[in-house]
Amino acid sequence: MTADRLPTDGGMEVTIVDDPDAAGRAVAATISATVRRSRSCRLGLATGSTPLPAYRVLVRELGGTGTLDHVEAFLLDEYVGLSPDDPASYRATIRRELTDALGLPPESVHGPDTQFRSDGRDGPGVGLLEACERYERLLGIGVDLQLLGIGRNGHLGFNEPGAPFDSTTHVVALSDTTRSDNARFFPSPADVPTHAITQGLGTIRRAQHLVLAATGAAKAPAIAAALEGPLDESCPASALRLHRRVTVVLDRDAASALS
Ligand code: F6R
Repeated sequence: MTADRLPTDGGMEVTIVDDPDAAGRAVAATISATVRRSRSCRLGLATGSTPLPAYRVLVRELGGTGTLDHVEAFLLDEYVGLSPDDPASYRATIRRELTDALGLPPESVHGPDTQFRSDGRDGPGVGLLEACERYERLLGIGVDLQLLGIGRNGHLGFNEPGAPFDSTTHVVALSDTTRSDNARFFPSPADVPTHAITQGLGTIRRAQHLVLAATGAAKAPAIAAALEGPLDESCPASALRLHRRVTVVLDRDAASALS
């Protein structure tokens, strides 16, 4: 594996490796180090395709070791309207891809409760707002490490372009780009939910350490905009540059539009 480390402003370190597997190894090593170092570890997890190589390495290295009693996992986001048992829900996905194999009990895996309903007086919309507030309280001062992928439109979590940098956990209407990008996880494009609950950019920025992974040429424009474009809400991922400790792991394709 070859890796280049580029200097950036502030607390950002950018590592460029050859391919998605090498990126997975680099991300897994960072997560492992945090898990091994802390007596009580709160890990923020992303779903999607990018983290899968890292999750495979983590399962190989940490699965079945029985040493993860001190770890709790927190989802970045969740679709509205899917039950936690629906295979396309992010809770089911993260259990299948990572936490079950690591031996983390389901009660140590937290996410926004998109099934939440209030007592009925205010209707389901208000129930979801309450669910957002509950999740925000549960996240409290923030997780120790938050793993992030990036959308082609620069989204982080489901914070689409225009999302305020200080937003907290909230309900979002998914953009057409995001719905079509995620259609591969559903039986048909029409099955992709229209809404999700996501940690806000302000919530994400409360994490002690942010780790952004991106692989593939399709992410190159979003990475260039996030790292070198205007610090602006039109690119949600540019908010990373406001954080004191960010590790960015890219493969050569995702880094190809950087100057
Ligand atoms: C997933 C998430 C999204 C993805 C992003 C990239 O929990 O919040 O922001 O990280 O859409 O997805 P992939 O990795 O599938 O390209």
